[in-house]
Amino acid sequence: MSSEHGGAIHSVLIENRSFPPSAEFASRARVGSIEEYERLWTRAKDDPEGFWGEIAACLTWSKPWSRVLDWQPPHARWFVDATLNAAENCVDRHCVGANRNKAAIIWEGEPGDRRVLRYQDLERETAKLANVLKRFGVRPGDVVAIYMPLVPEAVVAMLACARIGAPHTVVFGGFSAEALAGRIQDCGAKVLLTADGGWRRGKIVPLKEQADLALATCPTVENVIVYQRTAHKVGFEPGRDHWWHEVTAEASPDCPPVAVDSEHPLFILYTSGSTGKPKGILHTTGGYLVGCHATTGWVFDLRDDDTYFCTADIGWITGHSYVVYGPLARGATVVLYEGAPNWPDEARFWKIIEDYRVSILYTAPTAIRAFMKWGEQYPLRHDLSSLRLLGTVGEPINPEAWIWYQRVIGGGRCPIVDTWWQTETGAIMISPLPGATPTVPGSATRPLPGVVPEIVTKDGKPVPVGHGGLLVIKQPWPAMLRTLHGDDDRYRATYWSEIDGCYFTGDGARRDENGNYWILGRVDDVLNVAGHRLSTMEIESALVSHARVAEAAVVGRPDDIRGQAIVAFVTLESGQSPSEAVRQELRAHVVKEIGALARPDDIRFSESLPKTRSGKIMRRLLRDVAAGRETVGDTSTIEDFSVLARLRSDDEV
Ligand code: WT7
Repeated sequence: MSSEHGGAIHSVLIENRSFPPSAEFASRARVGSIEEYERLWTRAKDDPEGFWGEIAACLTWSKPWSRVLDWQPPHARWFVDATLNAAENCVDRHCVGANRNKAAIIWEGEPGDRRVLRYQDLERETAKLANVLKRFGVRPGDVVAIYMPLVPEAVVAMLACARIGAPHTVVFGGFSAEALAGRIQDCGAKVLLTADGGWRRGKIVPLKEQADLALATCPTVENVIVYQRTAHKVGFEPGRDHWWHEVTAEASPDCPPVAVDSEHPLFILYTSGSTGKPKGILHTTGGYLVGCHATTGWVFDLRDDDTYFCTADIGWITGHSYVVYGPLARGATVVLYEGAPNWPDEARFWKIIEDYRVSILYTAPTAIRAFMKWGEQYPLRHDLSSLRLLGTVGEPINPEAWIWYQRVIGGGRCPIVDTWWQTETGAIMISPLPGATPTVPGSATRPLPGVVPEIVTKDGKPVPVGHGGLLVIKQPWPAMLRTLHGDDDRYRATYWSEIDGCYFTGDGARRDENGNYWILGRVDDVLNVAGHRLSTMEIESALVSHARVAEAAVVGRPDDIRGQAIVAFVTLESGQSPSEAVRQELRAHVVKEIGALARPDDIRFSESLPKTRSGKIMRRLLRDVAAGRETVGDTSTIEDFSVLARLRSDDEV
């Protein structure tokens, strides 16, 4: 199974190399053979309620369910009538017995400061903050917004909300004031938990400054609790703003978890769609937690003595499900790192793995491609022998990066789990089980138990093996989204109307003759930049909100490191002339409106945009131009697309 010897290059090129689990890994894994996986999968498909009813016993419930599933398409209720508390499941229940002194969070700040929170510490901090929230009038069902750096208190914030039944909405610290404001307005948050700043590449991320700008247009926020991280001077509004350390110092550490209905909202997390404003994905408590707990066990094979490092920020679904809820529900030790992977140098992750003897690493293809570019010398400087399992998520991983990850980081010894899922699915859907599934570079392989995918044409007909089509899911699963916050019509339209009776993922895929799934990327106008979904439409509306811009079209261009780069075609208002200064101004404007992750890599000025006769922008054509596939000469100069457009048919091709 070694990739370095005999024929490896040839096999890598044809991408059909298969790596069976080692006998050693399989013998210790929860699911130790492909036959066992297939038995589980078939059982779950044929008797989902029986299957999930048994799995759900992994959690501590306050009241049992009367029915496992009530499915009124497209609305599911899982564990009907049962009650539980997510924070109790992730914290309190580990505080009895030996685990109370186990490290729940091992944290490292970017400047090098370190802290360890044992399960007991996490319980105390969570209870205190929960009491503060209650004092500020937060009741079950009230939404709390979280806009924080990756410090342990960010996890405490999420769990404190869960403890009192207040759904949280975490907004990634890299988003701008405008993006934060839009999300707070949409969910009507009552309290904002934030920090003065965070550290990123040696600089302060001015979170409080952005929060203050956002709050000017967010009247629902009555109180702001500010964690002191950077200790630089920030604005403070008496009456509204409170220092975290001051209000929690006075709070009681005694706050019993509130048992909520299984379908009580646990959180709203915003993600981009192809049209309209960001979608507030709503996840509820029981099913979501069962899904996170089960998949963390199957996919990461998480054991009591593991040290688990997931590099995602809590602002993304990966941070929710596989930094916080999945691993903590299992009583695991989670490593949390605040900053950039190349600070102070490109060996930071490898140093963290060596220092804490990390055994499981979960990261993204875009990061792996950056590691490759930086060079093997950085990981080689460190002892990575503690690693036993590697994971990836966010976008398709190219086989070259997969093989590099396996060889250089995994020392040829660690299985790789390429996990396909979405903010909407809540938990991993398609992935190898490391002790059971032969892995294939570039393929997420097989659906997990309880997941029934199919690949279909636009009319919903299954495609033959080996053919590309639309990826749909045919049965409900516990961690599925329940609706879009405040917009159930859009929920139905986006996910349940494309293909009759199925959940539509928005991804293309094909299945090979071995039953392995190959994800082919988005089929809508959604970009995947560095593993994060960005809507072309949102970037376009940010651009046209600038006074100089008349019209804009945004497309993705293949990018070696980040998967896709953002290319904007812009038509200026008459009287405006293109220049480098205007280009910089527009890029800065998008950063202000959305955040640095949406900054266009390339802005091209054009007197007109290519459109069909019915007025639709011909994106396929723009994508070709952006990728340099065009045959119409140098596109770095201003060009007139109208000629090209007239050559095309009326349909968007
Ligand atoms: C989209 C979901 C799920 C957490 C991270 C992103 C793409 C995700 C994979 C993978 C190929 C992947 C899909 C999906 N994607 N994982 N292993 N292989 N593509 O969450 O922002 O909700 O994005 O990311 O296109 O639909 P998200």
